[in-house]
Amino acid sequence: MVTRDQVEQAIAGWQEPFIDFLCVHAAAWRTWVEQSDSMVAGAHVALEDVPDFFKSDYEWAEAVLAMGDQGAFNWNDPRIVGLFAKAVQTPFYRLWGDTIIGIALALADAATSGALVEVGAGRGNLSARMLDAMRARGMSRPLVITDAHATVLDSLAGLRRQFPAQSLETVVWDVNQPAPRTVADLRGPVLVYERASLTYANFQSIENLARIADVAVLGDYFNYTGELFAYDRLFEKIGLKPLMYSDIKPLLERCFSGHVVVDRRVHETISLPNVCLIIAWK
Ligand SMILES: C[S@@+](CC[C@H](N)C(=O)[O-])C[C@H]1O[C@@H](n2cnc3c(N)ncnc32)[C@H](O)[C@@H]1O
Repeated sequence: MVTRDQVEQAIAGWQEPFIDFLCVHAAAWRTWVEQSDSMVAGAHVALEDVPDFFKSDYEWAEAVLAMGDQGAFNWNDPRIVGLFAKAVQTPFYRLWGDTIIGIALALADAATSGALVEVGAGRGNLSARMLDAMRARGMSRPLVITDAHATVLDSLAGLRRQFPAQSLETVVWDVNQPAPRTVADLRGPVLVYERASLTYANFQSIENLARIADVAVLGDYFNYTGELFAYDRLFEKIGLKPLMYSDIKPLLERCFSGHVVVDRRVHETISLPNVCLIIAWK
């Protein structure tokens, strides 16, 4: 269990640089709103005109529009595989990952937490960064990496070879469902963390997650205003569901004793419609 004070201590040092980065680099978000509108309307938008922060979204939008024309979205298209690889290397994605992990590990220390559980491993970018950070700290807590799809977990086999000393388990868990036994039976305070995975699940997955989590570090695209833009509609075509903070907030309030939106000040400063880091604790 952790207290609000411990959460504030865990955030300290991570929160300001994260907020400052977004306030500077995402400030031109309205330009991207207009550009994604134009793209959906069939107009040409040049990559060099898109604010740097949104160039990765632009490339996704282009791919979604192109594949929409072909009738079906092909996840195995080399262009899509390349976009995934590129997306995790952007300065924001790297900072996001470091911030999630830095806060998660500080909270794990504070909670004298038992196991760490990752939701939605994807290509294992966040998993690998977590394992690196745990090794650097000499932290030996069990790590359980989960995803809705067994094939995703199969592709993480290399992590076991890379981190042979780490207690590491992979478990199939669709967070739209209650956790499987292996996860539900974990002992000691459990810390759950994730990045960009709940947005593929239903917002009610928060309840399933809360059943097993004493602390949750949620890095995701939480829509803070309820307003949807052309890019939201485009990304829905590849499975991203708008994750409304107004839907999630009552669940967090019911299932946890407290939660904090780490980057709320970004919304207050530049009116960015999304917040992307929430910590909840029991
Ligand atoms: C964008 S990837 C996650 C990337 C990864 N977390 C990272 O930061 O490197 C989204 C992942 O969520 C998984 N996913 C989709 N729906 C899910 C669900 N209902 N439950 C659990 N995982 C899900 C997908 O299989 C995919 O691997």
